[in-house]
Amino acid sequence: MRSWVIITGCSTGIGRALVPLCREAGWGVVATARNTAALADLPPGEDLRVLALDVTDAASIAAAAAACAALPLKALVNNAGYGQVGPLELLRPEELRAQFETNVIGLHAVTNAFLPLLRREPGARVLQVASMLGRLSIPLAGPYNASKHAVVALAETLRLEVGREVAVVLVEPGAIRTRFRETLSKVWGDLPERAAGTRYERILKKYLAVRKDQSERYAMDAEACARKILGALDARQPPRRLVIGRDAFWAGRLKALLPASWWEGLLRRIYGLG
Ligand SMILES: NC(=O)c1ccc[n+]([C@@H]2O[C@H](COP(=O)([O-])OP(=O)(O)OC[C@H]3O[C@@H](n4cnc5c(N)ncnc54)[C@H](OP(=O)(O)O)[C@@H]3O)[C@@H](O)[C@H]2O)c1
Repeated sequence: MRSWVIITGCSTGIGRALVPLCREAGWGVVATARNTAALADLPPGEDLRVLALDVTDAASIAAAAAACAALPLKALVNNAGYGQVGPLELLRPEELRAQFETNVIGLHAVTNAFLPLLRREPGARVLQVASMLGRLSIPLAGPYNASKHAVVALAETLRLEVGREVAVVLVEPGAIRTRFRETLSKVWGDLPERAAGTRYERILKKYLAVRKDQSERYAMDAEACARKILGALDARQPPRRLVIGRDAFWAGRLKALLPASWWEGLLRRIYGLG
């Protein structure tokens, strides 16, 4: 009998890339998205279930867990998330709250809903998709940095509490080529107007250019990232941390090695903060 994995945020990006890879590797996949129309092109099969799941909606989470009750669910990949950026000085509390609702509270609520199902399966695992920005902070991405640091803390705590029954894997990618960076500017709302005439106007323009440039030049393909995640799904002994990409690896090392003032100076220079 095949083992099943449920993945959040499969409409695009890393989540979407993971679905066919898991199926090829023999997993049954519960592919979820806020809008299941985005999953309509997945080839149907015995090894696929498609479910609506909005991680900020308690009823939607409960319905998804109920729909999976009869499946031998061995893994959960908490992948859904987005990046709220903007200088902290201009950030509204509701924007920070919304970022946490999806990236942190949503991830927590989904984890709790599925833990009882996962516990039934030997070798079960939860993969929490954080980011290299869960270990270090860059300017102008405060809400996102904070949310991913919270994901790291939640996962490390959860591992201490349930790790003997269900393994907890922290997935920490660097830049991955997905729709993520488009979403960054989508959730800006009226930030450009708020920034107009302030010192952030020029800085934000540069920020967008840097991020775009970085994603085009250095980012890893979503499929390559998904392959690494599949490795942790398949591993007999899943790793505690899965750092994905050279940028994630080296940024972490550099931050640990450099004096704090050098590290901060470097980031200020990169992001045009003088
Ligand atoms: N791309 C990177 O450079 C990078 C680096 C490190 C970590 N990550 C993390 O990797 C994960 C996947 O991101 P990605 O790069 O693949 O970006 P993406 O292409 O924008 O995919 C994000 C996915 O999350 C879903 N999502 C957002 N809010 C949701 C909600 N409330 N409920 C359910 N699903 C929701 C989106 O669905 P909709 O289509 O409905 O919006 C989409 O399917 C995120 O947690 C992100 O923080 C990404």
